[in-house]
Amino acid sequence: MAPSPLLLLFLVSLSWARYCVHNEKSWCQGHNIWGWCFHNKSSGVFNCDDDAFCVSQDQLKNKKSSGCFARDNSSVCCCNDADGCNLGFIGVPPKYAHGQQCVNSMEIPNEDIRLFRPCDDPYCYSLLTAEEDGGPTTVTRGCHSRKMVMHFMSKNEDDKFQNNTKWRETKRIAEMPSCSEILMDQGKMNGTRSLCIDFLFDQEPEDGEEVDEPIKMKGRLCCCDGTSKCNEQAMWADEGITLTELLEEIEKRKVPVDGSVTVSSLLSAVFTLVFAIFFAN
Ligand SMILES: *[C@@H]1O[C@H](CO)[C@@H](O)[C@H](O)[C@H]1NC(C)=O
Ligand SMILES: *[C@@H]1O[C@H](CO)[C@@H](O)[C@H](O)[C@H]1NC(C)=O
Ligand SMILES: *[C@@H]1O[C@H](CO)[C@@H](O)[C@H](O)[C@H]1NC(C)=O
Ligand SMILES: *[C@@H]1O[C@H](CO)[C@@H](O)[C@H](O)[C@H]1NC(C)=O
Repeated sequence: MAPSPLLLLFLVSLSWARYCVHNEKSWCQGHNIWGWCFHNKSSGVFNCDDDAFCVSQDQLKNKKSSGCFARDNSSVCCCNDADGCNLGFIGVPPKYAHGQQCVNSMEIPNEDIRLFRPCDDPYCYSLLTAEEDGGPTTVTRGCHSRKMVMHFMSKNEDDKFQNNTKWRETKRIAEMPSCSEILMDQGKMNGTRSLCIDFLFDQEPEDGEEVDEPIKMKGRLCCCDGTSKCNEQAMWADEGITLTELLEEIEKRKVPVDGSVTVSSLLSAVFTLVFAIFFAN
């Protein structure tokens, strides 16, 4: 049977999408048939060729390609040969100028630890989950941006063809702010930036399962960068902040600079008032 034109259109539109790693948003989707992924080894930028560097290179016109240019002391790289291909530049010289190797593993209670090949990424992560009042912990560790690219590719496929549920495994991480947001205000300690975010959630019932009361779960997402295998440790006891605190922090970042002056002068006015009342008594 010949494929219907509609199906062909669907397939073409799917192949148009080029997924790339993005250093701020975790992932992005390129928008044309030659959609390029970009990485600048000097600045650490990863994106979908947002500034149209790759697309304006004559040597790359209408090609499938992958490689780096040395320009003005910086090495800038372009590829369009695979989804997430700009991750591949982390390990080419100058190696690990930005990004590092991450531990890639899965620890499920009462099962052998599964160790996968380490992967390269701008950000490493660990995700701990357990029942809220304790008990054994499930831990996954890996490459954050790569996971997000895969998550949204599989989600997109599922939305279109209802045949890929892999994204459900990473839903929890995809709903969180990006590692770039999480680490933005963190200082480096021994070359590593890291922070853990604590949150609560209800365990989702298995397909077709009926539950009156979902199990209350706690989760902890840790992001890190700067040194190889920085996601190797991460425990419940490490320093962390709550998701609510993080979201407040992110909201505050959006306030323009002169706005923050207003807030602090308002605060000092309130303090003055409090002191006035205190002394009046
Ligand atoms: C790469 O980053 C360097 C350092 O930030 C910058 O000077 C250069 O213009 C960037 N190159 C491109 C093509 O974006
Ligand atoms: C490239 O780097 C060298 C050594 O760091 C420096 O002397 C030179 O001025 C730089 N060139 C440009 C175009 O930035
Ligand atoms: C889902 O369906 C599309 C279109 O038929 C196909 O290209 C793709 O490989 C399928 N994905 C999976 C995971 O089976
Ligand atoms: C940093 O490294 C030093 C020396 O290796 C070590 O003593 C110290 O505990 C480290 N600090 C942190 C926060 O890991």
